[in-house]
Amino acid sequence: MSSPAWSKITTTLNTGAKMPIFGLGTWQSAPNEVRTAVKAALQAGYRHIDTAQAYGNEAEVGDGIIDSGVPREEIFLTTKIDNMEHKDVAKVVDESLKKLKTDYVDLILMHWPVSIDPVDRENQKVLYKDWNFVDTWREMEKIPSSKVKAIGVSNFGIENLKTLLESAKTVPAVNQCEAHINCPSTALVDFCKSKGIHFTAYSCLGSTGSPLANDKTLKEIAEKHNTSTQKVLLVWNMQRGEGKHISVIPKSVTPSRIEDNLKLDGLELSQEEMDKLNACQDRFKVCNEWLPQLVFRAPGTKASDKGSRDFYDKDSLFERE
Ligand SMILES: NC(=O)c1ccc[n+]([C@@H]2O[C@H](COP(=O)([O-])OP(=O)(O)OC[C@H]3O[C@@H](n4cnc5c(N)ncnc54)[C@H](OP(=O)(O)O)[C@@H]3O)[C@@H](O)[C@H]2O)c1
Repeated sequence: MSSPAWSKITTTLNTGAKMPIFGLGTWQSAPNEVRTAVKAALQAGYRHIDTAQAYGNEAEVGDGIIDSGVPREEIFLTTKIDNMEHKDVAKVVDESLKKLKTDYVDLILMHWPVSIDPVDRENQKVLYKDWNFVDTWREMEKIPSSKVKAIGVSNFGIENLKTLLESAKTVPAVNQCEAHINCPSTALVDFCKSKGIHFTAYSCLGSTGSPLANDKTLKEIAEKHNTSTQKVLLVWNMQRGEGKHISVIPKSVTPSRIEDNLKLDGLELSQEEMDKLNACQDRFKVCNEWLPQLVFRAPGTKASDKGSRDFYDKDSLFERE
């Protein structure tokens, strides 16, 4: 791949739809910030916006899209079904469309493979006994394509994907999971690729405050290329995905950063630099165990395994072989 124009590359999903591999994340973008951020991003050239029902900011994302003046059909818009809405998919899709002020979204993801009973909305600790993510997927498969162009999942490890694929009529178009140099999720990325599921990397800067930017190896590489550590992190993901298997959705509410993050066309890492970043020893995961059910399971275990919590160990978090 010579001089990749990362900011303009689109990949083709298993639905045939085109999705830009560079987008804007909006988690923790407060309602009074996200409208400006979305407008700034679209005016700077972003054409992919990621939001979720759980972020509580869909209405402002919709406003930002309108403010930008960019035609809706030029934008790839993703939202996600909240864990407490798994039994009400049709209803919450309509609610999202209303908030986003659009007739359709390009992609809707099941946010987590965890179906939470909304009986305790505040603590979110009660699981449905008669429902799981396979049931939710069946509901998602029924959403009319006039409202949702593609359906996908998020935070699905290999075992959960295998369970889903056993009965799915539609193969998820995307699996959105945490992936950065400290949590490369390589086995999961490879598994998704083998099934034709595009992988979107979230928290690819290390999430709040972009903590990965302090990594010594990363800093050296960024200095050599006279660029920011953030851009090296973004390119590392897109490059290992060969410009098609992995997309990135860095979040920022700071217009100057939003603009700067996009200026990475032509940045290419040597094999030696990729190897150095692949070999980072530090390991951390942003989105950890906060749900009433284990999500990242040790390889070889199934959701149905009794006492699957016992299989939890540090390595399984990173889906390493
Ligand atoms: N599916 C899921 O469960 C899930 C989970 C987590 C995230 N996501 C999605 O993935 C997106 C990205 O992940 P994330 O929000 O966790 O974090 P991230 O994109 O890894 O990092 C965001 C942080 O980096 C800062 N930042 C961005 N560009 C910067 C730059 N050039 N220089 C210095 N700091 C910079 C931002 O600050 P400012 O905003 O203050 O500029 C913010 O604090 C989310 O917003 C969301 O859309 C999905």
